[in-house]
Amino acid sequence: PMKQRLLVVANRLPVSAVRRGEDSWSLEISAGGLVSALLGVKDVDAKWIGWAGVSVPDEVGQRALTKALAEKRCIPVFLDEEIVHQYYNGYCNNILWPLFHYLGLPQEDRLATTRSFQSQFDAYKRANQMFADVVNQHYQEGDVVWCHDYHLMFLPKCLKEYNSKMKVGWFLHTPFPSSEIHRTLPSRSELLRSVLAADLVGFHTYDYARHFVSACTRILGLEGTPEGVEDQGRLTRVAAFPIGIDSDRFKRALELPAVKEHINELTHRFAGRKDCEYLMMIIVILSETLSSKVMLGVDRLDMIKGIPQKILAFEKFLEENPSWRDKVVLLQIAVPTRTDVPEYQKLTSQVHEIVGRINGRFGTLTAVPIHHLDRSLDFHALCALYAVTDVALVTSLRDGMNLVSYEFVACQGSKKGVLILSEFAGAAQSLGAGALLVNPWNITEVAASIGYALNMSPDEREKRHRHNYAHVTTHTAQDWAETFVSELNDTVVEAQLRT
Ligand code: UDP
Ligand code: G6P
Repeated sequence: PMKQRLLVVANRLPVSAVRRGEDSWSLEISAGGLVSALLGVKDVDAKWIGWAGVSVPDEVGQRALTKALAEKRCIPVFLDEEIVHQYYNGYCNNILWPLFHYLGLPQEDRLATTRSFQSQFDAYKRANQMFADVVNQHYQEGDVVWCHDYHLMFLPKCLKEYNSKMKVGWFLHTPFPSSEIHRTLPSRSELLRSVLAADLVGFHTYDYARHFVSACTRILGLEGTPEGVEDQGRLTRVAAFPIGIDSDRFKRALELPAVKEHINELTHRFAGRKDCEYLMMIIVILSETLSSKVMLGVDRLDMIKGIPQKILAFEKFLEENPSWRDKVVLLQIAVPTRTDVPEYQKLTSQVHEIVGRINGRFGTLTAVPIHHLDRSLDFHALCALYAVTDVALVTSLRDGMNLVSYEFVACQGSKKGVLILSEFAGAAQSLGAGALLVNPWNITEVAASIGYALNMSPDEREKRHRHNYAHVTTHTAQDWAETFVSELNDTVVEAQLRT
């Protein structure tokens, strides 16, 4: 167990705040892989520093929220609406996010984006400085400061300017793209230099780490070594630390009487309990198609997740396999995300349109093939769903790791269902032996994989599941965090020995 104090700095706090009154707040668990993974880390004396997802202009509200968050060991960074617009909606999610996932700048307003680039980057730096100020207020000597993700690439530099002795790590939860992509960013050098101010820089996969090092050599002309990047004798250590989940948490959930009962109800069409809204909804879905197989997608409604591609592949499968039409349903949980960014709004209507078209085409008076829900699920409902699923479909066009695939595997101890997984998700490198890997752009291939998965023999399913399960249960979020922090401590000691 780590006894050292850890300051975890991420744009998104594990809880998001909803205002209930002048000085009253309620807190909800935030969605996304970064939060899930970090919540899976135990036995650490950690404090979180980040944004609670709301703008709080008044002092009364700020004081009340700060107090409510303190109970969750969270410390807020207050960002006003203008900064959120330019930094979060703009630079982070309209520029860095699509570029790091090889999607390019949004097509429609490409020139507008290009024009607003500098002002958004300035806001990004200002926002990072605001995070640094809060870290600095709470920092005590000996603390480890762990910065997370593409929102905070400027933070390591700001922190080291405050205090060059601070132990600073930075971890990226997205892919780091080929240097050919990174090169196109007007702020390419500044971003790299500020990340390099950290002592340790971590990525999910070796490929992402290699891309980062080659961006530093090609764009900054620095020397890349097997250890990291060197600049005038100073080494920034760069390495891969694949993230994992707290698989025990999922296994334990499946043992809870309430969850067991949900699973039972889901499997046996027993619509006896009327107390849970989500349960009723799912029972209605499945009871319409009693003998059918359940395919599941769980994604934030994000363009990197390849949701339209997934649905088109499912359509192709139905088209080619008439006998399956009344025997399979696709349940797509699409968690709303970044809804103020125009690209995300467009994606929502695009997906709705495709789903409507396909349901119109293949639906009957009593059943539709696709159940698309724009909502999030609570943890227990999610576990029950993972457990009753026959085939999970992860079709990310790019994805740092993708924890949904891990969570599905963790919940399949008895069902031993099939995972269809995009080769462009980081998880393809760890679950490749057990999953059916696909290129999500090739809907013919994905449709064929759906058929293969639905018809797979129990023996093959068992064998594939065993591979994945072994990985997911032995590469946990806990190990990930411990490895990163101990590597960070070692790196700092080695650097002191060198000078
Ligand atoms: N998740 C969630 N709310 C939901 C459904 C899912 O918070 O309603 C979680 C899910 O359990 C997983 C995370 O969101 O831990 C998604 O992580 P992933 O790495 O797959 O993708 P990301 O959203 O980080 O891009
Ligand atoms: C991804 C990012 C996280 C982010 C999450 C949810 O997992 O890597 O940094 O928190 O998506 O997105 P949001 O914009 O709501 O924080």
